[in-house]
Amino acid sequence: MKRLAPSILSADFSKLGEEVAEVEKAGAHLVHIDVMDGAFVPNITIGPLVEKSLVGRTSMPFDVHLMIEDPDRYIDEFVTEQTEYITVHAEACRHLNRTIQHIRSLGVKPAVALNPATSLTVLDYVLDDVDMVLLMSVNPGFGGQKFIPQTMEKLYVLDDIRRAEELDFEIEVDGGIGAGNIAEVSKAGCDIFVAGSAVFGKEDRAAAVLELVNLMNSEE
Ligand code: DX5
Ligand code: ZN
Repeated sequence: MKRLAPSILSADFSKLGEEVAEVEKAGAHLVHIDVMDGAFVPNITIGPLVEKSLVGRTSMPFDVHLMIEDPDRYIDEFVTEQTEYITVHAEACRHLNRTIQHIRSLGVKPAVALNPATSLTVLDYVLDDVDMVLLMSVNPGFGGQKFIPQTMEKLYVLDDIRRAEELDFEIEVDGGIGAGNIAEVSKAGCDIFVAGSAVFGKEDRAAAVLELVNLMNSEE
């Protein structure tokens, strides 16, 4: 099943619980939580306290995207009963295999993210061990950026590798996804779609979620 993961980065944090409840009611599937440290990316956002504040406020699982240097230092703090994925950047991990095993040992699904300029080859020896690969389709750091078109080729190739090697990890695409491109991204093999500004940046969030969910399923 394809899933939509609205990113709270573009939400109104003064009423986060209500905002998340609203998109869940409209049919969203996961809460995408963007954690930025001001070092790996040029922006600072939120930490585990905000993730924990959402426990019990929604029944959607949490999709935690760590854009932080040396994430091993903080991974344990992001584990809650609702955390489905913890994603680390390949570029930020010195011992990627160890980090993946550590996330799994905590009972959470491990995922690896790649920046737009990072080759799929860095995944060669970890693809068996991850539950999801996140392809960044913008340079991480900010919401509301334009989708980088070269992501499409990377997505096709990753989907081919998955089929050829008979693996079952999910593919998530993050950045610049909206009504104009979600169907095409879906057709290319994406399973989980992050959308920040295309959901929380809209006046009518429920309508935005409905439209995106319809479009992402339209190619099946
Ligand atoms: C960017 C974040 C994204 C971002 C997506 O660094 O990882 O999750 O919030 O926002 P939009 O959908 O607005 O590009
Ligand atoms: Zn993200």
